[in-house]
Amino acid sequence: RRAAAGGAPRRRVVTAPLRIGVAGLGVVGAATVALLRREADLLAARCGRRLEVVAVSARDRSRDRGVPLDGIEWRDDPAALAAAGLDVAVELIGGEDGPALELVDGALARGVDVVTANKALVARRGAALAARAEANGAQLRFEAAVAGAVPIVKALREGLAANRMTRIYGILNGTCNYMLTDMRETGRAFDDALAGAQALGYAEADPGFDVDGVDAAHKLAILASLAFGTRIDFDSVHVEGIRGMDPMDIAYAEDLGYRVKLLGIAEYGESGLAQRVHPCLAPRAAPIAGVEGVLNAVACEGASAGPTVYEGAGAGAAPTASAVVADIVDIARGARPPTFSVPAGALERAPALPIARRFGAYYVRLMAADRPGVMADIAARLGRRGVSIEALVQRARGAGEAVPVVMTTHEADEAAMRAALDDIAALDAVAAPPRSIRIESL
Ligand code: HSE
Repeated sequence: RRAAAGGAPRRRVVTAPLRIGVAGLGVVGAATVALLRREADLLAARCGRRLEVVAVSARDRSRDRGVPLDGIEWRDDPAALAAAGLDVAVELIGGEDGPALELVDGALARGVDVVTANKALVARRGAALAARAEANGAQLRFEAAVAGAVPIVKALREGLAANRMTRIYGILNGTCNYMLTDMRETGRAFDDALAGAQALGYAEADPGFDVDGVDAAHKLAILASLAFGTRIDFDSVHVEGIRGMDPMDIAYAEDLGYRVKLLGIAEYGESGLAQRVHPCLAPRAAPIAGVEGVLNAVACEGASAGPTVYEGAGAGAAPTASAVVADIVDIARGARPPTFSVPAGALERAPALPIARRFGAYYVRLMAADRPGVMADIAARLGRRGVSIEALVQRARGAGEAVPVVMTTHEADEAAMRAALDDIAALDAVAAPPRSIRIESL
């Protein structure tokens, strides 16, 4: 009643335009400026104020980027944007240090809000930057850094805020997912699938970031911090990519009722935080197994919400610009949540659980001589290490030559499984190092 009579403090409504500076006018930067201009009226209606790009910075001033830059101030030095009297600095340069870090850190130090799509920067320096933001009353936003258009950062920080999370996993690299889909559908070899992904413009400038799992690991470390309230710990992520994946294994996995996916998986429990990126056999009935091509998806397991799954375009100019602008909209509306869901000083330092502590099932393929006693030798090596075979099948007949032997195991300790695989590799009858892929219960 008293509030109705005017006793409660009023929320300050800002109606002045939000002054935005954009650093980096590559495909995402140009798409962001274009989107802000194209949807200016819609965004103004949704924010209650106009969103104005007042300054930009990029390497080559003369290049035509297909977006008009008239009336926008040009700065050659991106770090100078931090001093340009902006409300928001948008960092789309990339890289974990150099000009990107200089701009982000400089802007936050001046109390200027920052929006970035830079997963490497956030994964490596997120905790320090969040502390910097907080100390200066600024916002650090990075929706576009994880899974492109999919609003997973917002979902974790806001929509799922009432949940303790136990596990979060996802397809976090569109290039790898595209390649795995292509290899399954066409039987194409790894190198050909990579060339196809590059031709379509999906891969990072250094495709090693994609195929070796680094890009997915950056995104996983960010998600884990948001989901569990733990201090971001990229260095503890176990990372394996899809380099050298053989289409033969993708086909055998399919026969067994699984789909091969590069997943990032983070689990948090009493003993600590496990973070791993590696190829997995996902049961075909799991929603994530049906996410194909360049799409990304993230599944979250919350104590009250139960499982929720989010899917969409994980890369590309327009989808990434959609996420960048969503962060700008939030800032324009005055939302000021803590960067990683809790204040930077309250982020827990969780002990990192090494991959050797994983307990789970495995798919294994060997190339073994087709002669009496070989299967018994292989089974004995597994049995000796306490690994139990679930199913085992020889996939061809090969008069004395090595033939594929495919098996799945029951759940076993990773360390025991690795030791058993080393023992098997040492057998004369086994022609090449065994290929193994972890099977996940999803
Ligand atoms: N190269 C990334 C991918 C795109 O393939 O998913 C943006 O992170």
